[in-house]
Amino acid sequence: MIKKITTLPGDGIGPEIVESGKAVLQVIADLYGHQFEFQEGLIGGAAIDATGVPLPDETIERCQSSDACLLGAVGGPKWDQQPPHLRPEKGLLAIRQALNLYANLRPVQALDALIEESTLKPEVVSGVDVLIVRELTGGIYFGEPRERRTIDGEEGVVDTLVYKKSEIERLLHRAFQFAEIRGKHVTSVDKANVLESSRMWRECANEVATHYPSVTLEHMLVDNAAMQLIRQPKQFDVLVTENLFGDILSDEASMITGSLGMLPSASLNGTAFGLYEPVHGSAPDIAGLNQANPLATIASTAMLLRYSFGLLEEADCIEQAINQVLLKGYRTADLTNANAISTEEMTKAVIKEIKVAIHS
Ligand code: NAD
Ligand code: IPM
Ligand code: MN
Repeated sequence: MIKKITTLPGDGIGPEIVESGKAVLQVIADLYGHQFEFQEGLIGGAAIDATGVPLPDETIERCQSSDACLLGAVGGPKWDQQPPHLRPEKGLLAIRQALNLYANLRPVQALDALIEESTLKPEVVSGVDVLIVRELTGGIYFGEPRERRTIDGEEGVVDTLVYKKSEIERLLHRAFQFAEIRGKHVTSVDKANVLESSRMWRECANEVATHYPSVTLEHMLVDNAAMQLIRQPKQFDVLVTENLFGDILSDEASMITGSLGMLPSASLNGTAFGLYEPVHGSAPDIAGLNQANPLATIASTAMLLRYSFGLLEEADCIEQAINQVLLKGYRTADLTNANAISTEEMTKAVIKEIKVAIHS
């Protein structure tokens, strides 16, 4: 199979972890006889420094002309004082919008090997397998107006939450479709006791649910959901929610796995194309130190192979290799206080497991 992959390293630990992901993809290509052609694109602070804008047109074109993208992370203190349209994060939001990547999958799996690393009790996290389906191209992230303005004679500010019904429905369909092939339960998370957008969300969920008779639907208010994720995460199968709620709940849920450095994601637009990235950010506090956990990015490459290329065996192979290295006790600093290994060492350990698995 010949495929084009655009890598978008970005800022902070982005270049280090994308290097890891690329190395894993290259090994998969070599061992399974595929040809992955890599090209790189500028995004975020790196793009601002090189071109003056967080998402150059050339980057969009490179992504559009490839079969999948692998992104590291964007942002950092260097660019925090930039005006809104020239912030690194704007580049990420803009690429999601330009490529219509409305469905963001954030699987949260408690691996047996990491049960002790979670800050939650083993019996609470053991066996957790939640798929968070986050709306990614609408809501308060994109609504207009968004501005500082005078309100009642004093300094004020406006952000706007906008959804079209069709945007809510298409995302809910994806969530139900995943539930059909998983645990057949959807928890739709909203704030319907306060927000009109959430009341429409709830109506849409009820309507979409009628198309999936084998799947049960439950509505949950977001404040309760934040609590339930910590109290009893095993009650969730597919958790579907709007953009901002999904952002916050996925960082929270990551601690079930032991570290934010473990959570991968896929951003999809309904075609085979996808953009894959770890859920975490650019971790400026450890950037350039070869300390970052590359497993969220490596797990994102497995999602890339599965969802964009249909390479299920190869995807499984990567996930099993991750499991194996963790079972053998390899830990980056985010997962242990003692004997931490580096980003590069962890990447090499995963690659070694992939090779062992294929040659055995
Ligand atoms: P962050 O996710 O970058 O870091 C939060 C904490 O988790 C830090 O202590 C960091 O060291 C740790 N961490 C994150 N990923 C890790 C990994 N792979 N291995 C080990 N430790 C890891 O969130 P933040 O500090 O709130 O944000 C920093 C910057 O990242 C900001 O500019 C923010 O806008 C940006 N950000 C970008 C993305 C993205 O590109 N998708 C996501 C979130 C935040
Ligand atoms: C994420 C990040 C982004 C988001 C930021 C950096 C724009 O937090 O991918 O989770 O809020 O979507
Ligand atoms: Mn986030």
